Amino acid sequence: MKILAIETSCDETAAAIVEDGTCVLSSVIATSKHSFEASGGVIPEEAARKQVECIVPVLNQALKDAKLDRKNIDAIAATRGPGLSGSLLVGTTAARVVTSLWKKPLIGVHHTLGHLSSTWLDSPETPEFPILTLSASGGHSDLWYRTNHTKGTFLGRTLDDAAGEAFDKGASLLGLSYPGGPAIQKAGESGNIDAFPFPLPLHDTDTLDFSFSGLKTSLKYTIRDLPKQDPAPMLEDLSASYEHAICRHLVDRLVKAIKRHDDVIEVHIVGGVSANTRLRNMVNSTCNNYIVRFPQTIAYCTDNAAMIAAAGHFLFSEMGDDAFAPFQTKASLPLSDVIQN
Ligand code: KG4
Ligand code: ZN
Repeated sequence: MKILAIETSCDETAAAIVEDGTCVLSSVIATSKHSFEASGGVIPEEAARKQVECIVPVLNQALKDAKLDRKNIDAIAATRGPGLSGSLLVGTTAARVVTSLWKKPLIGVHHTLGHLSSTWLDSPETPEFPILTLSASGGHSDLWYRTNHTKGTFLGRTLDDAAGEAFDKGASLLGLSYPGGPAIQKAGESGNIDAFPFPLPLHDTDTLDFSFSGLKTSLKYTIRDLPKQDPAPMLEDLSASYEHAICRHLVDRLVKAIKRHDDVIEVHIVGGVSANTRLRNMVNSTCNNYIVRFPQTIAYCTDNAAMIAAAGHFLFSEMGDDAFAPFQTKASLPLSDVIQN
């Protein structure tokens, strides 16, 4: 089954064609990130305007790269949310138009379910359930225990900022550009992780939730207390210590979750923050009794349409024609809603 997918939940305009949820035939991503380097975050109207310009060329390029035309496509999938409303409207409108002109079925996909499916893309082996998944991006930080693609238990979420948001806001405090994750990773590459002490949030609580706002406040006060309040001379060490603190909190929750589920076979780390090298090293060394998977490429960590196509495929394979009622049915809902039903 070949699915053409569209993803426009934030500042990317992405289209991809994926066969059977795993084999990526094309994946095209146009981003307006560089326009927001100075502002420190996405300006929603500007992102949506760029997406209106890019959506048709990106769709054409996805077909061209895969050397396919409309006849070869079995279904269309599109991110139905959550995300920036103007941006989502561009993608979902394009999906409805293509669906109606080409007379294909449409699958509405929850953005997080896309990230959860990203470890299947171009994977040399088929991952095996039960899987414990940490999904950490600019919009969410979630922990899941999954027994298949549409069933599982939602274990915890962030109580305030998302992990990616902690990177983005921290970068802004450090005078680094947006997006903050790659900027902090680069600035802190050779820094000392123990140079500045940061708290380990919620460590002594029973919850599997996350909290990043205290780390951000702690960084703010650390910078305030520097001589001349200028982070530049200490940038390497500040970045390394702050990055380490975010990763340590993510791994602390992950380890706690694993201890509560002794049948877990694999541990997956997905979402934009899964691109982080320090986090990858920490997870690999901490979870060495499990099969640990990250998305196969960095482009599958951050927002892309291939993961939406994969999620669309798995929704169809586990829910049958129920997956084809666009944007309203439980097919498009996050796992927690599917589980409750
Ligand atoms: O999944 P994603 O592309 O979009 C959302 O769904 O939000 O994630 C974007 C987030 C941004 O906050 C960005 O700073 C973070 O992922 N990110 C990283 C890295 N690359 C992207 N965080 C840490 N280290 C990275 N290398
Ligand atoms: Zn995302």
